[in-house]
Amino acid sequence: MQYCESFDGKQVNYYINEPFKLISSIAKEQQVIYLIDACVYEQHASLFENHPHILIPSGENSKCWDIIHSIIEQLLQFNANRQSLLVGVGGGVVGDITGFVAAIYMRGIEFGLVPTTLLSMVDASIGGKNGINFGEQKNLVGTFNLPSFILMDYSFLNSLPLDEFKNGFGEIIKYACLSDVRFFDMLFMHTIEDYQKDIHKIDALIQHCVSTKNKMVMADFKESHVRKLLNFGHTIGHAIEKAHSIPHGQAVGLGILYACKLSEVLRKFDPANTLKIKNLLQQYQLPTHIDFSNTLIDSIVRHDKKSNAVGIDFILLDAIGKPHIQNISIDQLKKLIAASTL
Ligand SMILES: NC(=O)c1ccc[n+]([C@@H]2O[C@H](COP(=O)([O-])OP(=O)(O)OC[C@H]3O[C@@H](n4cnc5c(N)ncnc54)[C@H](O)[C@@H]3O)[C@@H](O)[C@H]2O)c1
Repeated sequence: MQYCESFDGKQVNYYINEPFKLISSIAKEQQVIYLIDACVYEQHASLFENHPHILIPSGENSKCWDIIHSIIEQLLQFNANRQSLLVGVGGGVVGDITGFVAAIYMRGIEFGLVPTTLLSMVDASIGGKNGINFGEQKNLVGTFNLPSFILMDYSFLNSLPLDEFKNGFGEIIKYACLSDVRFFDMLFMHTIEDYQKDIHKIDALIQHCVSTKNKMVMADFKESHVRKLLNFGHTIGHAIEKAHSIPHGQAVGLGILYACKLSEVLRKFDPANTLKIKNLLQQYQLPTHIDFSNTLIDSIVRHDKKSNAVGIDFILLDAIGKPHIQNISIDQLKKLIAASTL
């Protein structure tokens, strides 16, 4: 059993191996309803025997109104009420959906998360943001809503496909760029295989990312200043994710590279560091090249939550571990992207 500080001062309990026993002890008299990623359910069905559950089709397309509608219908069939507890079991998609449904069902019910992808363990399950997509816009509709608990059972990573494990490193490398050079250099010394084989290494990695995110969330829950830094790589990353239908972690990696290129022009970021980050992305087997067409960027960026009447708060780097927020007009952003080649 392990503990990690949470941003609201309470301890978030991290249990390895037997989260379901813990949930029953937390839930006490509460009705618990699991919202489970369909792929996770397929591989771990026995864990959910005799537990009321709702399956969520795997993939980003589930972050939509139709799925929310269907979940609410099923909650009604289970007679879920204000005292019920929802537990989301899956990756970032299920986490985002669970937090959102919990925020709006009967004006808000309690929920907890059991993240099952590396990406959701290091990032998506932490910090209380949730939401669904709307048309071309990622996460346009959502709330800030904290889970009562986050349970990490690293044994779920054993069934995670290798490509999904790699996707987690999109967000991990984001933390390496934002937080400190030592963490960045430590990633250079390891490989995907090292982390797959060694639970202690993966635990240290997850704890570092969670603690970095918690500090920023604690300082700025509603994302009006320092929390914006966590969007490093995400402005262009979200546009790439939507335009090319690629996984979030890969898109973030590509968004990081674009942000580095823009940092070279706007913040004198050393091109040698861009190359280092590119090498690190390649080491963790993430894509570092895409023929990104600028055509969608306008509509996607204009509705980004970091945009205002002047432009968009874009996260740049002065150096590795030294991020900077700069408002950039959409026209300037489009020109800079057009002039950048990865
Ligand atoms: N709310 C936030 O703060 C936040 C932060 C980052 C990302 N996100 C969101 O998270 C989503 C991406 O999350 P993700 O990468 O976890 O993707 P995901 O939830 O789509 O999961 C990826 C794939 O892995 C499968 N899977 C999950 N766990 C498994 C397991 N243990 N064994 C076998 N298969 C498993 C799923 O079925 C799916 O096909 C995006 O929608 C992104 O916008 C949210």
